[in-house]
Amino acid sequence: MSWAPAELDLSRPNAARMYDYFLGGSHNFAADRQAADAVLAVAPHVADAARANRAFLRRAVQYALQEGISQFIDLGSGIPTVGNVHDIAHLVNADARVLYVDVEPVAVAHARALLGGDPRVEVIQADICFPDFILDNPTTRRLIDLAHPVAVLFVSVLHFIPGDVDAIVEPFRAAMSSGSALVISHATSGTATSQTEEVQRLYQRTPTPLQLRHLADVQALFGDFAMVAPQPAAGRRPHGAVLVPVPQWRPDPGDHLAAEGLPVSPFLASFLAGVGMKGPAVMMEQPEPEPEPAGQRASRQSGRR
Ligand SMILES: C[S@@+](CC[C@H](N)C(=O)[O-])C[C@H]1O[C@@H](n2cnc3c(N)ncnc32)[C@H](O)[C@@H]1O
Repeated sequence: MSWAPAELDLSRPNAARMYDYFLGGSHNFAADRQAADAVLAVAPHVADAARANRAFLRRAVQYALQEGISQFIDLGSGIPTVGNVHDIAHLVNADARVLYVDVEPVAVAHARALLGGDPRVEVIQADICFPDFILDNPTTRRLIDLAHPVAVLFVSVLHFIPGDVDAIVEPFRAAMSSGSALVISHATSGTATSQTEEVQRLYQRTPTPLQLRHLADVQALFGDFAMVAPQPAAGRRPHGAVLVPVPQWRPDPGDHLAAEGLPVSPFLASFLAGVGMKGPAVMMEQPEPEPEPAGQRASRQSGRR
């Protein structure tokens, strides 16, 4: 297990490795599989939700590429799996640059092993609760030019962090230039059921218990960014819902979860996603100077002579 750093506590399940298991990956241990199986026993649709979330990430990255964005910061990027951000981006733009950030040692070790030597991709091990550490990091500075548009991804990560997560998102919103994209998916308390409560209880055993938030609190994380309509025809800033269940954000034709019209479970129905675009900075208009009465101007001019 060259991908498993020595300092790992193998006895405690971890959300990153449970997610890897839900996605069918092999970078997980017995404690992770046991905890993930317990989650699946009460909420079998969690595996669907993980796949739907991953598919949302792909569609959001493709959208950003269409908008001409060629830099990506993937926060809480997870253990590399099928369809990593750089795989998706490099299919469209071979020069695209991608910064992966995760706090979990297996995610970071495996990403480094996979990416070693590609100058377009970097991985840093960091806790996203310290946004300035990430934004000012020499690796970030070398790879990402914040003077140009960037897509910042908080995909299925903020619901593992307690407290005021806007204190994490806001510095990124502020640092992003006009034309940048903010991508968020987040489990909310919208249609919380006893099933959701049981899933929450099981995640208490991990170092990152689930923190469900209200829809309005997730929407607020986009600040004044213009929300991209979940349906392509509607343009930006649509009326109505701008955060939708992950399968319903610009679904691919034929996507079975989205095509059925309704998500398959209350858990998935409350797992919401959205993309916001940063607009140009609004300049405060300078008031026009009051026209000076003619007499005053003449006397000032004669005094100057
Ligand atoms: C469910 S996985 C999501 C992975 C990927 N973003 C996706 O959506 O496919 C959540 C990831 O967030 C990471 N994470 C949780 N809390 C974090 C923190 N405070 N800082 C950085 N990463 C964190 C976990 O280690 C895990 O890899």
